[in-house]
Amino acid sequence: MTMREKLELLERRRAEAELGGGADKLKAQHAKGKLSARERLDILLDEGSFVELDRFVTHRSTDFGLDRQRPYGDGVVTGYGRIDGRLVYVFSQDFTVFGGSLSEAHASKICKVMDLAVQNGAPMIGLNDSGGARIQEGVVSLGGYAEIFYRNTAASGVIPQLSAILGPCAGGAVYSPAITDFVFMVQGVSYMFVTGPNVVRTVTHEDVTMDALGGADAHGQTSGVSHFTMRSELECLQGIRELLAYLPSNNLDPAPRGRGTDPTSRRDEALLEVVPDSANKPYDMHDVLRRVVDDGAFLEVHRDYAPNILCGFAHLGGHAVGIVANQPAVLAGVLDINASVKAARFIRFCDAFNIPLVTFEDVPGFLPGVAQEHGGIIRHGAKLLYAYCEATVPKVTVITRKAYGGAYDVMSSRHIRGDINLAWPTAEIAVMGPKGAVEILFKKEIAEAPDAAAAMDARVAEYTEKFANPYVAAARGYVDDVIDPRDTRPRLIDALEMLRAKRVTQPARKHGSIPL
Ligand code: HXC
Repeated sequence: MTMREKLELLERRRAEAELGGGADKLKAQHAKGKLSARERLDILLDEGSFVELDRFVTHRSTDFGLDRQRPYGDGVVTGYGRIDGRLVYVFSQDFTVFGGSLSEAHASKICKVMDLAVQNGAPMIGLNDSGGARIQEGVVSLGGYAEIFYRNTAASGVIPQLSAILGPCAGGAVYSPAITDFVFMVQGVSYMFVTGPNVVRTVTHEDVTMDALGGADAHGQTSGVSHFTMRSELECLQGIRELLAYLPSNNLDPAPRGRGTDPTSRRDEALLEVVPDSANKPYDMHDVLRRVVDDGAFLEVHRDYAPNILCGFAHLGGHAVGIVANQPAVLAGVLDINASVKAARFIRFCDAFNIPLVTFEDVPGFLPGVAQEHGGIIRHGAKLLYAYCEATVPKVTVITRKAYGGAYDVMSSRHIRGDINLAWPTAEIAVMGPKGAVEILFKKEIAEAPDAAAAMDARVAEYTEKFANPYVAAARGYVDDVIDPRDTRPRLIDALEMLRAKRVTQPARKHGSIPL
């Protein structure tokens, strides 16, 4: 063969590899309203930056007629590329080849890019669209999954790992995305479940649709498995790009600087109006966050799950920060099981990747009730406490209103090594709210008073005057300063700048034992 003929053969094989499972299967994929594996990579990555690896890999199976079908690539496109000029590693499963099912060869392609991602300190992004383990390969395919799970775990806290679910994701296949840091799902396209509706019907006699069992909303709102719910694949792939703008490439590199032009000294007059005069009136903590962070840009994680606490990324003075904020507009911002677990996971991610934590606090306490107690609010709340305690990144807290009871301790208080704790003049830092406290302390006195209501009001006023303010905590140095709310942004930026070189040394240990 001449060189020219060899080049023609290469071109033919490349074209064959790019077709995946063939034109008909591609048409069927499009007919379902889904993009192909390669179209997804084109949208995800900077134009022309994708470099494919292992395009000619084929499976090695011979059973059930597989010896007659050996498509190039074996159902997954792998390689590396750039997002905003930064290196990322990717895999994109191709549903047109055996339903994107995972064979030994398919798994080894994914493992190769995962190894490269860790060795070279760059994020790993997986686009999942797969019928799960390749049934014809049996245990060999299960072994392939386990190799991926092991690598997900070893890479955790070393490089950011992002998963998009862009089709079915069934059986044990869900566990690789579940170990990764962030899961994206698309309404009407993505499904995750350990067992599908048919098995559920047989085992528990529950009738449930794919969507209700494991669709994007089910996992975005109810289970919390998914962090981002998107309306389309396009929005999802753009969302991954947006998230990466806040994340470092690995646990040793700094996060990229924000591109905003918001002045660091900007004060915000409207912050004087956000907290209502009445302590029991709700307000939307988003209004505070947007007025404080660079250009009002807050990328919320788990937006629809446990909305009584807000978690997300922003820039302050151009530096990436992780924000955790009680949300008085939902359940008065109370801490419950889901909120505790949501925030704990977020805090641990930020700590692993050296992203400073900024906490906005307005919390009446932990949620009482049989369901919460029996559901384990003690051990789940302990996760949040543990996560804040162990985090060694700079931790800055702003108490906007209530900081009551155990929740005061938990929400990055000075005692658990919050570095700078600021309070607005509206802060109320006490063991509990005035009414509850008076009912306990002066029960007898109020019951015996000729005018019970007047006696109650007098004691509530006395308690409020004495305890429902930031000055008792400030007198002890538990709060570093009581600030004008309008100064929140410059004060936070200044505190974070002061803490930039923070170092913490601790005794050697293998790892702690977080109450999982
Ligand atoms: C081999 C598979 C496959 C699989 C699908 N295909 N899943 N081939 N192994 N796991 C093939 C189909 O035979 C078909 O081939 C093509 O992919 C498209 O599948 P369809 O069923 O036609 O597509 P659709 O109707 O869209 O349904 C998609 C699906 C369904 C919901 C994913 O295919 C399905 O239920 N698959 C099995 C899911 C599953 O139970 N997987 C194993 C889970 S256990 P042709 O040639 O006809 O086009 C698991 C263990 C993990 O994954 C272990 C980790 C611990």
